[in-house]
Order: sequence, then structure tokens, then C-alpha cells
Amino acid sequence: MKIFIDSANIREIREAASLGVIDGVTTNPTLISKENKPAIELLKEICSIVPGPVSAEAISMELDPMVEEARQLSKIAKNIIIKIPLIKEGLKAVRILSAEGIKTNFTLCFSASQALLVAKSGADYVSAFIGRLDDISQVGMDLIKDIKTIYKNYGFKTQIIVASIRNPVHVVDAALIGADVATVPFAVIEQLIKHPLTDVGIQRFLEDYKKIPK
Ligand code: E4P
Repeated sequence: MKIFIDSANIREIREAASLGVIDGVTTNPTLISKENKPAIELLKEICSIVPGPVSAEAISMELDPMVEEARQLSKIAKNIIIKIPLIKEGLKAVRILSAEGIKTNFTLCFSASQALLVAKSGADYVSAFIGRLDDISQVGMDLIKDIKTIYKNYGFKTQIIVASIRNPVHVVDAALIGADVATVPFAVIEQLIKHPLTDVGIQRFLEDYKKIPK
């Protein structure tokens, strides 16, 4: 499973990239708004740090402006993927963008029916927001299982991104189901590394090392 970092923060992205386990980045307008920098400038910098796919979101809701915005965003760098909202105009836009070779990621997927249409549209990725489903008392991970089954049944090529991840269990469950990508906030990446027994074990080895005669 590929791991993307879900962040627009340069310090977090650099730190995560230095671990050597990050395959890409997802951003959204909320994440970018926290950074106090023009979006294009920020996205350029992110693309220069991470060579893998970097998702940048189109905010236009009408077809022509959406397609134009996607074309402009795709000029930022070769590894830019355009996040498209999961609405009718988005489906129409992806048809045009795919024909132009522009890579797309449908965002805000909350149902298997939406994911089925995404796959038929030929989009490269679908981002299913599991944490936000958990927040309203639906089991988000069930959606990933359903999408995985549907895509397997028909050999659809769209990659499943498990998004809106809130904890390490979400990441492990995504891997068990066989999702293509988990996009993970920096704090959760740090949690993935940690284990209390690792810390206790290191402490004990360091103390015992001091007892070894020089
Ligand atoms: C995915 O691409 C989104 O940026 C992200 O996962 C949204 O998650 P949230 O529910 O934590 O805002």
C-alpha cells in the first residue's frame, strides 16, 4: 500500500519525506489555508520535495472553469494530480481532462455508488473519506471494503485512496483490505512509528550497555 501525507505544511512534508516511506501528498483548500502562502507557490514547493503524486484541488463548480482551473494547476509540475469534486460537472470534467492526459482524483466520495461512477469515468484515483463517515456513526471502513469488491469484480483501474484518516488503526485496516493508498496526517504517521514496548526496550538496552566493562 502506498502512503501519502495529507498535509500542505512544508516542515511536515520534509520530515515525512526524510523517513523514506512517503509516496505522495494530498492537499485540500482547508490544509492550504493554514499555511499563509499563495496556493500555487506552496504546491510548487511541495512538488519539488516529493517526486510522487501531489493532489491539488480545483474549486470551480461549473464545467468550463473547472476544466480551465485543472489545466492551469496541472502546469505547476509533472506530478500534480487534480482533485475534482464528486458532482455531475466533475464527471464531465474528468472525461475531458483524461483525454488530455491530465491525472485526476475524485474527492469527497462517501458511497459505493459514487465510487462506481468514478471508476467508469476513468479517473486515476477516488478519495473515500472514512473519518467523516465514522464521525456520523457510519463505519467508514465498510465503504472501502465495498469499493474494493466492486473494483475487483470488474477490474477497474482507479486507485482507492483511503482519506480522512484519524488514527493508526485506520491505516492498518486500509492495508488489510488492500486499498491502494492511505493518505495520512503527519501526527498519525508519527503514531504509526511508536510502540511503548519499543521505547521500554531501547531504554533497557541503553542502561544495560552502561554495565558492560570498558
Ligand atoms: C484527502 O485527500 C483529504 O485531504 C483529507 O483526508 C480530509 O480529511 P479530514 O476529514 O480530516 O478533513
